[in-house]
Amino acid sequence: MTAILEREVVGTGRVVWFTGLSGAGKSTLASALYEELRGRGVQVELLDGDAVRENLSKGLGFSKADRDTNVRRIAFVAGLLAKHGVTVLVSAISPYAETRREVLSALPNPTEVFVDAPLEVVTERDVKGLYLRALAGEIPHFTGVSDPYEAPETPDLHLRTDRISVQDGVRELLVHLGVGG
Ligand code: PPS
Repeated sequence: MTAILEREVVGTGRVVWFTGLSGAGKSTLASALYEELRGRGVQVELLDGDAVRENLSKGLGFSKADRDTNVRRIAFVAGLLAKHGVTVLVSAISPYAETRREVLSALPNPTEVFVDAPLEVVTERDVKGLYLRALAGEIPHFTGVSDPYEAPETPDLHLRTDRISVQDGVRELLVHLGVGG
């Protein structure tokens, strides 16, 4: 009986990993999905790039080594949570394809979501005013401007946020995750 209960609780978790440029809409989509899943009674947690960098990865910068460390730390925590049945939503630029592949392949039920908007669009949006500063050379190693972003070639889900609404994106995510639209 205990074994059956454990099987039901443990091992049902999953990790949904949102990757994309700054301002592409990763956090917006992940937060909206988080609310939707919570409303459906799903045990869900959100590991968002900004919050992670203020806590778990405080002090890390944006060199390749630091970004990879950040991504591996996030994956470590995501894996622990998922092992206990939690649906974990990760929102991080995670610009390096090989590092994403490495961490995702070690996670239970991983879903890679490419949150995609062209550089012109995110530069135009410039939600945090960072692109203007990066283009002026004030922020070194800024993803998409002076640092690489290696887009996923075969993501599980590819959402063009310049073409679809947040609601439509969440609907696609729910369908993909098999939770209904
Ligand atoms: S990474 O590459 O996955 O480690 O990045 P992440 O932890 O997601 O942090 C990205 C947020 O940090 C802000 N920021 C920068 N982004 C990219 N390049 C540089 N140099 C940089 N400096 C600061 C930026 O606000 C990112 O937030 P998002 O949510 O992606 O817009």
